Amino acid sequence: MRVSLTLSHDQVKTVLTESYVAGLDVGTTRIRTVVAQPDPRGALRILGLGVVPADGLARGIVVDRDKATVAIKESIHRAQVRAGVEIAGAYVGVSGAHVACRNVTGRVHVPSGEVGHGDIEKVIQSARDSVRTGPEQQIIHTLVRDFAVDGERSIARPEGMRGSRLDVEVHVITGVGSIIANLEESVMAAGVRVLKHVLEPVATAMAVISEAERDLGVILADIGGGTTDVAVFSEGAICHTASLPAAGNHVTRDLAQLLRIEPQDAEAVKRRYGVALAEMVAAEETVKVREVGTEQEMRIPRRLLGEIIQPRMEEIFNLVKENLILAGFYETVGGGVVLSGGGAQLVGAARLASATLDNLPVRIGAPHRLTGLEDSVDSPSYATAVGLAMMAAHDEAWAMPTRPATGAGPWWESAKAWWKQTILPAVRRLAAPQAPRR
Ligand SMILES: Nc1ncnc2c1ncn2[C@@H]1O[C@H](COP(=O)(O)OP(=O)(O)OP(=O)(O)O)[C@@H](O)[C@H]1O
Ligand SMILES: [Mg+2]
Repeated sequence: MRVSLTLSHDQVKTVLTESYVAGLDVGTTRIRTVVAQPDPRGALRILGLGVVPADGLARGIVVDRDKATVAIKESIHRAQVRAGVEIAGAYVGVSGAHVACRNVTGRVHVPSGEVGHGDIEKVIQSARDSVRTGPEQQIIHTLVRDFAVDGERSIARPEGMRGSRLDVEVHVITGVGSIIANLEESVMAAGVRVLKHVLEPVATAMAVISEAERDLGVILADIGGGTTDVAVFSEGAICHTASLPAAGNHVTRDLAQLLRIEPQDAEAVKRRYGVALAEMVAAEETVKVREVGTEQEMRIPRRLLGEIIQPRMEEIFNLVKENLILAGFYETVGGGVVLSGGGAQLVGAARLASATLDNLPVRIGAPHRLTGLEDSVDSPSYATAVGLAMMAAHDEAWAMPTRPATGAGPWWESAKAWWKQTILPAVRRLAAPQAPRR
């Protein structure tokens, strides 16, 4: 019998390569490393996760390199142990008030009459060249929003199209070079190469925003500890990004100061009993808190928590609104608002956001299209780290072989077993001399 060995392209890739991707979210409160494997069907297989409390960070940037390095190293180590692979490089998130964005255009003449790869590179470069950056600034992303050939817009893939003029609209994101360098050096000192810096809301959007929402127009607000990061999509493309200096830590600080309790108690009470809208709590409900510096417990109305939290959360959503009005994009979103980040987990956050943002529909976004250890990252807090790994998988699928650590992960063991039991015997049978045909 002749054995047919028809391995699909995907199966060959699955068996013959050991490719892993890693996303590293160096947040103000937590450092999260996600190790994953690109799944040829478009999902992301989560292999390992390392989460540690952040150190040496404030407002989304590194303020103490040594402390940050120690914390990053520990986060990477935990993810590596869990995944059973060694990470050589990672996609790393960038955030903070130093980030700025603008939309610019570029135009080139197409001498051959057919748009080639070189023309596309040239037109994007011409758009980049039109951005005036200060000496301290560097371009982090140049994201294409639209191409037009001979004035005809919405050309998704101009390569190979007939035409004599190519135009592009791009969203350019810049950041302060020294701030990005400090982050990069902390990551490198932790033993990992930065494969790419990615603006955090761009990565978060990858994990939580659907294509339909991008087309309709959508606001993403990632409420972290130190910053609330915003990204706006319109007609399928990113058109605005911003990092605003108020987030979950401000809520915790308000509670600690106004209730006179320890910050860690304020954090715990916020997570357990906090609400974004005071009216969500019955007037008679009370909770116990411990007065700062004493062991003495006191009972306070739970509604008081809402009364303290609500103005700060309203301030955050108003900052988002003002920022978008100023940038001219507030009116362009038909798809509503997606909240993510740890701060989105506050009870009532979506309701208050909708009330503040003129009744736009608001939903909480958690990463989707995952397999493997998906349960451990299925929360808005992990959206950025997962999005970074997704971007790495998207850009670099199968191109970043990583050395398996001793005792490689379960996936690799089962792939090897499948190779040995199913494919090798088939290959051997094929290679064996065939009996002469009669
Ligand atoms: N269940 C919860 N309810 C309310 N707030 C929460 C909850 N869980 C986490 N948070 C808040 O989320 C914030 C941390 O969010 P996240 O982990 O996304 O931040 P980060 O990525 O470390 O910081 P940043 O993105 O600002 O650099 C903290 O202020 C924390 O109090
Ligand atoms: Mg964050």
